[in-house]
Amino acid sequence: LPRNLYPERENSRGLDLTDENLLERLSKTLQESATRDWRAAPTFAEDAGSETEAVVNPADHRDEVGHVTWATEDGARAAAKRAQAAYPDWSIRPVGERAECLERAADLLDEQMEPLLGLIMREAGKSAANAIAEVREAVDFLRYYAKEARQNMEGAIGVGPMIAISPWNFPLAIFVGEVSAALVAGNTVLAKPAEETPLIAAQAVDILHEAGVPRDVLQLVPGAGPIGAALVGAPENCGVIFTGSTEVAKLIQRQLAKRTQPDGAPIPFIAETGGQNAMVVDSSALPEQVVRDVIASAFDSAGQRCSALRILCLQEEVADEMLEMLRGALAELRVGATDRLSVDVGPVITAEARDNILSHIEAMREKGHRVEQVDLAGETEHGTFVPPTMIEIDDIDQLEREVFGPVLHVMRYERRDLPEVMRQIAATGYGLTFGVHSRIDETVNAVVARAEVGNIYVNRNVIGAIVGVQPFGGSGLSGTGPKAGGPLYLGRLNKGAGYHAPE
Ligand code: SER
Repeated sequence: LPRNLYPERENSRGLDLTDENLLERLSKTLQESATRDWRAAPTFAEDAGSETEAVVNPADHRDEVGHVTWATEDGARAAAKRAQAAYPDWSIRPVGERAECLERAADLLDEQMEPLLGLIMREAGKSAANAIAEVREAVDFLRYYAKEARQNMEGAIGVGPMIAISPWNFPLAIFVGEVSAALVAGNTVLAKPAEETPLIAAQAVDILHEAGVPRDVLQLVPGAGPIGAALVGAPENCGVIFTGSTEVAKLIQRQLAKRTQPDGAPIPFIAETGGQNAMVVDSSALPEQVVRDVIASAFDSAGQRCSALRILCLQEEVADEMLEMLRGALAELRVGATDRLSVDVGPVITAEARDNILSHIEAMREKGHRVEQVDLAGETEHGTFVPPTMIEIDDIDQLEREVFGPVLHVMRYERRDLPEVMRQIAATGYGLTFGVHSRIDETVNAVVARAEVGNIYVNRNVIGAIVGVQPFGGSGLSGTGPKAGGPLYLGRLNKGAGYHAPE
């Protein structure tokens, strides 16, 4: 959008991708990003091991984006001790001072948006549009939590050192969201970014330090699972914010169940996990709009969003027509390395992720399901790509698990069976996003009443929740709540005494 279209908006305005000058600058940021050796390391050098590892671009493994030095387990424990020592000072600072740090960081991040886009595109395999959205969301989280804290948290007391474990699919936005919420609520933070994407996280931490957050109040602790476990198990740990798989969330919960905070209280835990997200399309829906929204919901970000559409339910009367249009749209998707600004679908994050998704597709093919796929062009050979795929199913029960990639399952339903379809969707146990396309109010109201999910979208796509406008998060296997980017989030991150619940 042009920067001045909604001058009163509080959300970050981003960049206008139809601006030719911007496109030129974007090509430059990519080139410049490739000349830098981006680095990530524990905030305190003594917490680091001696080895450095290259971080590679998932679209082209020959492209070394930068280098990471991992924390050691002893280093993680030392960081936790430091975070505890830093806590009393940080927690009694006036909330306005902590909020100011976030606001300054938001301004810095907004200013540095363009140089950071090249890094995000290369480290996470994101398209230019997705990379821009990523920075915008991070800026929004900073400003939103700062505003919420100023309004509601005067006199509130943090809990102590908190662990923020964040995912590779939103390596900047969710990282910054978790960290900034915990900080502004008065906690010190040990931030463990996903091991696939530590470089952009390191940039975010630098920006927060530059904005005034002391280094022992926010420490980057890069590492894989054992480092996360060392942080969660540290006796100083007073809370965990986690975004990732349901399976890992359960592991963390089990680990936390064996421990308490130093004062004996249970440890607060926020988990945002996966989804088996569905959309119902009835015979009154507008076909062109459905196709556009389904393609975006299922294949944007190569389907690597927890909000992404996994199961499309088409009313029998329109299923043939819709399927034909969807096949046409699928065939038009351009898959490839995201340094090409014209690409629609980039790589999946790792070879393991690719193999996992491909084995699901093959298993479904072997069971006799009809499978449609985009042809991958030769230029994808150096990265980890999965062809955008549509698989016809008869029943939601035929799906065993969430498949985190560009795979859409499509089934038909008879109008009279709609309540049964809604029951089956709920029976997956997940409850993250749900979409309905219909021009009949009664149908919309009926399915909305039955959808047991956090975020419901009517006659639109099901991705890209906007901070402060669409608080995001689910229930059941999809997470604990409270929703990120919403008014209840900060309340979980302090002792509660001074928190004024929003009206
Ligand atoms: N907040 C993101 C979205 O709505 C999470 O996947 O798409």
